[in-house]
Amino acid sequence: MCGIIGYIGKQQATPILIEGLRRLEYRGYDSAGVAVLQNRELATRKKKGKIDEGLAKLVQANPIYGQVGMGHTRWATHGPPTDENSHPHLDQSGKLAVVHNGVIENFDSLKERFLEEGHTFKSATDTEVLAHLIGHHYDELMKSGKGNWTGEGTHPLAQAVMNALREVIGTYGIGVICTDHPGVMVGARRGSPLIVGVGEGEHFLASDASAIVSHTRTVIYLKDYDVVTLFPDKFKMDSLGSEVASFQLSKIEFDADAAERGKFAHYMLKEIFEQPKTVQNAIRGRLDAEDGTAKFGGLNMTTAELRAIDQIVITACGTSWHAALVGEYLIEEFAHIPVEVEYASEFRYRNAPIEKNTLVLVITQSGETADTLAGLRESKRRGHRVLSICNVVGSTIAREADGGIYLHAGPEIGVASTKAFVSQVSVLTMFALMMGRIRMLSNRRGSQIIKALEAIPDQIQKILDQSEEIKRIALKYAHAEDFFFLGRQYNFPVALEGALKLKEISYIHAEGYPAAEMKHGPIAMIDEKTPTVILAPTDALYEKTFSNLEEIKARKGPIIALATEGNDRIKEKVEDVIYLPATWEPLHPLLAVIPLQLLSYYIAVARGCDVDKPRNLAKSVTVE
Ligand code: M6R
Repeated sequence: MCGIIGYIGKQQATPILIEGLRRLEYRGYDSAGVAVLQNRELATRKKKGKIDEGLAKLVQANPIYGQVGMGHTRWATHGPPTDENSHPHLDQSGKLAVVHNGVIENFDSLKERFLEEGHTFKSATDTEVLAHLIGHHYDELMKSGKGNWTGEGTHPLAQAVMNALREVIGTYGIGVICTDHPGVMVGARRGSPLIVGVGEGEHFLASDASAIVSHTRTVIYLKDYDVVTLFPDKFKMDSLGSEVASFQLSKIEFDADAAERGKFAHYMLKEIFEQPKTVQNAIRGRLDAEDGTAKFGGLNMTTAELRAIDQIVITACGTSWHAALVGEYLIEEFAHIPVEVEYASEFRYRNAPIEKNTLVLVITQSGETADTLAGLRESKRRGHRVLSICNVVGSTIAREADGGIYLHAGPEIGVASTKAFVSQVSVLTMFALMMGRIRMLSNRRGSQIIKALEAIPDQIQKILDQSEEIKRIALKYAHAEDFFFLGRQYNFPVALEGALKLKEISYIHAEGYPAAEMKHGPIAMIDEKTPTVILAPTDALYEKTFSNLEEIKARKGPIIALATEGNDRIKEKVEDVIYLPATWEPLHPLLAVIPLQLLSYYIAVARGCDVDKPRNLAKSVTVE
C-alpha cells in the first residue's frame, strides 16, 4: 500500500522517479508526488489521480532538475485523495521532505503538541505530522551543536530520523531528504517494506524491486528498525532496535521485462495468459516421479518433524485465503491431517486453542500483507513452526517464516490476483502430496497425482485458447448487476474466487456459495436478470450439482456452466457452457479458475472499468 521511490546519484532524478512510480502504481493510485533537491531548494510536484493523468503532466509542464529526489504513489488512509494530502510532505521549516508508507497511530497527540507550539499543517495526513516531528528533532540536534558531521558515525539527518521514530507508534517505510544535506537520503522501516538498490555511484530506495530492477539488481531488503543513510557512493546502516545493524546484499531474480505489460492490454490479461508457464515454474524440479512424491528445498524441517505434525492451520487473506481453502481439501484428502483455514485478520486476534504439534502455513503473494504477517508473528510467538507459501522473494513474510516455498510466478502487477492463485494451488497440491507420502498415500497414487499435475499447463493453454468464446459470453452478461458462483467440494473455493474477481474489477455484486447452500437462502435472489456460474465437472458429485442447476433453472435464472469436455447433456439445460479438459477431481480448481478470471476480465473491460487499478484497492495491503 503506497509506493516509495528515491534516487541519489549523478543522473537526473525526476525521470527515474516518474518511471519508478509508474511501476509502483499498483500499490496505490489515489494521488502521486515527487520532491527533488533543485539548487539546494526542495521542489515538489503533487497531484491527485493516476500518475499519467496527473503528476506526469504536471512535471512535464513544470520540470524539476536535480540528482536527489523521492516520489510517492498513495493509497489514502488519513485524509481523502487530494493534491494537499499527496506526499512528499514537508516539515515546519520547509527544508525537509518525507515520503511514507504505513500508519502513524499516535499522530493526533503529536499534532496537538506541534499545534500548541505554533506549527501549521497543510494536509490531513499522519505523514505531515511525522515530517514535523523529524524536523523538530533535526532542529534540536542543530541547537545542541551535534549537527555537524565529520564523515564518521551516524549522519545528523539519520540521527534526527532515529530520534523522531523513537516517539512514533505505528508502521512506516520512509524516505527523508533535507536541503541542508543535498548529498544524503535517509530511509527507515518498521512494518512497511523498503529496499535499497545499490548501483555504481548511485543508490535507490523503493517499496519493491520492480521499481528499480531496470537500474540495478543488487538490493538490500531492510529489516524492521533498520535506518539507512544513502550517499551517491556509499551507504551506512543503523538500527533502532536492540541488535547491531547488519545487512545482506541480495540479487533480484526476475528480468525487467517480467514487470512489463508487453503486447497485452492489461497486466491482468498478461498474467492470466502466463499461467501455463507459472505452473511449470512452480512444479519444476519439485516432483519426484520415482518415489511418487514432491520435494522442497526450503522447508527447514526433517521428514521426522513433518511426520510428527498432527494439525495444520493455514492463514491468509483474499485470494490467498481461497487458495488456502483448496489446500484444506487437498491436505485432508492426501494426508489425512486435520486442517483449519483462518482469515489472518481474525486469526491474529482470536485466542484459538492450537494443539502442540501444529504447523502453521501462511499463504501470500506479496509477502507483505499486514494481517498475514501479524498472524505469522503471533504463531511464532506461541512457539509454532511457520512455513510460508509466498511469491515475492525476500519479502518480510518469506524472511520471517521458519521455512517456506516460493511460487516462482514472477511479478504479479494486476491488483486482481490471478497467476498467484494458480501457483499457490499448485504448490499446495505438491505439499499435500509430500505430506501424504510421508503418511498413508501409496507410491501408485502419488505417481497418478504427479502425472495429472504435469498435464495441467497444457490443459490451461487449451482453456486460454477458448478466450474468444469466453469473451462472447462475458459480453452477453456484462450488464448484470448481481451474479452467483456455485461449486461443490474442491470447486467451492473456486466459486468464492470467481465472485471476488468479478466484484473487485467490475463492481458487480457477486457471491460464491457451495452449490447446495443456495436453497438455504440465496436462491431467493434468483430471477431472469441474475446469472449463475455453476462449476459442474463430471465428478463424484456431478448428479447432485446437476440438481442444483435444475433448481436455478426452475426459477428462470440464466446459467453459465463449466463442464467437462464430452458432457453434451448439459448444453440443453443451460444458456452457455465453457468446456474444460478432464482432470483428476482434486486438481480441478487449477483449470476451473481460468475461465472465471477471463469472464471477470472481459466483463470489466466491457463496463469500462480500469482493470489493473480497480477503485479503492491496492495490490499489497500493508495496513491492518
Ligand atoms: O499478497 P497477498 O496474497 O497476501 O494478498 C492478499 C489479498 O490482499 C489479495 O489476494 C487480494 O484479495 C487481491 N486483490 C485479490 O485479487
